[in-house]
Amino acid sequence: MIRFLLALLVLTALPALAAPPDAAPVERGRYLARVAGCHDCHSPGFAASGGKTPPEQWFTGDRLGFSGPWGTTYPSNLRRAIGLKTLPDWKAYARAAVLRPPMPYWALNAMTDADLEALWHYTRSLGPAGEPAPAALPPGAEAPPPVFRLVLPAAATP
Ligand code: HEC
Repeated sequence: MIRFLLALLVLTALPALAAPPDAAPVERGRYLARVAGCHDCHSPGFAASGGKTPPEQWFTGDRLGFSGPWGTTYPSNLRRAIGLKTLPDWKAYARAAVLRPPMPYWALNAMTDADLEALWHYTRSLGPAGEPAPAALPPGAEAPPPVFRLVLPAAATP
């Protein structure tokens, strides 16, 4: 009888074991990354190709520099910046992050707990973290191409 009950327990648990436990947050994260525009900068060539970057490269960062009075910044490899953090660390980071242009950090700050959790699960589902994006360059340092350059009117230039 006990054996029978144990077998029954295992059988009823099987469907739960078959489905990955975090499937729903992963799907939600996939949707968010797309509609919130995160891929536009953080997946190489995404905006330039009209969103045709292969999924194997999603969130691996980009070598396209953004230059302006802040220096030159590069869209980070999010598989590292999000995926290698613990979930509590990621949420604390996202709430407080103040980053350089053109990163819309205020969008990150405004995400709900559920959205931040979904992005974390999604990012971790993407595959190996890979290499970091190039390090930012200080103001005035010449950035190699490809680079977006913000040119301000003379009066606004310090
Ligand atoms: C217009 C381009 C752009 C878009 C859109 C964008 N980012 Fe960024 N992001 C950047 C750049 C550039 C940096 C590096 C900023 C710096 O060095 O200060 C960055 C940095 C970050 C960082 C910090 C990474 C680190 O190394 O600590 C996180 C996290 C991040 N972005 C997440 C997101 C998410 C999530 C979205 C979508 C909601 C998004 N970004 C949309 C350009 C962008």
